[in-house]
Amino acid sequence: MPLRERRKVTGVEKIGPYTLVRIDQGNLDPGIPGQFFMVEAPGRVLPRPFSLCLAEAGELAFLIDAIGPGTLAIAEVSVGDQLHVFGPIGNGYRLDVERPVLVGGGIGVAPFPFTRSVLGAGTPVVLGFRNAHFAEAAALLPGAEVVIDPVLVTEAIPDDHDILACGPEPMLHAILRDHPTAQLAWEAPMACGYGACFGCVVEIDGTLKRLCLEGPVIGGAPPVFPAVPA
Ligand SMILES: Cc1cc2nc3c(=O)[nH]c(=O)nc-3n(C[C@H](O)[C@H](O)[C@H](O)COP(=O)(O)OP(=O)(O)OC[C@H]3O[C@@H](n4cnc5c(N)ncnc54)[C@H](O)[C@@H]3O)c2cc1C
Ligand code: FES
Repeated sequence: MPLRERRKVTGVEKIGPYTLVRIDQGNLDPGIPGQFFMVEAPGRVLPRPFSLCLAEAGELAFLIDAIGPGTLAIAEVSVGDQLHVFGPIGNGYRLDVERPVLVGGGIGVAPFPFTRSVLGAGTPVVLGFRNAHFAEAAALLPGAEVVIDPVLVTEAIPDDHDILACGPEPMLHAILRDHPTAQLAWEAPMACGYGACFGCVVEIDGTLKRLCLEGPVIGGAPPVFPAVPA
């Protein structure tokens, strides 16, 4: 059940180039792995979407890749600050699969510590990063197989597994080519997260749909993103 709450920051930790921001859980439900939360930093007008990275000991945590003003404002919070959080929302991964493998690229590692805590510590994980600094995030998933560019994470996926993946668009398309039943978490810019703004509209199976409602996790045909004006 999604809730909107203002929660206190309980920890801020650098992990390679990323920042792990912990908040006091309050009444928030962690939801299903792959669902997301809209998180708004103090003084900002628009929230940003984030996967839940960890849910443990009365805390929720988000792993932030600070790429612009919204993510930067969240990565720069201090313990004791308050974040406005809304979720869990969207469609998560189906977990009733026989042989799951978690496949993450870059910041796509974010949902998998929580996912593995639900599926079981023995769930195999393969992660790909652009260099060793980014690969420090693999510490969140002990025992994961880690590859670094130019080796591609798709080369490390074990055979005969049910793929749950999150990562950059080219990685998701490459997985889909060889594994049409993979469950993939897609991204689009999202301003509201609950179907009101139409900012996240993509084409799925020939129909325009809002990714915040139909996704972010989709199995089968990939969404078609609107062309970005040059
Ligand atoms: C369901 C979902 C879960 C996500 N989980 C995480 C997470 O766990 N950790 C994390 O660090 N990030 C996550 N993201 C991405 C994150 O929400 C965006 O990076 C953030 O919204 C960018 O905001 P900004 O203000 O920092 O940058 P902006 O200035 O808004 O954007 C910087 C650049 O990134 C592009 N961009 C912005 N948002 C997106 C997007 N969603 N998809 C593709 N391009 C985009 C912009 O066009 C621009 O070029 C997730 C996104 C979605 C949709
Ligand atoms: S984010 Fe507003 S409609 Fe999807």
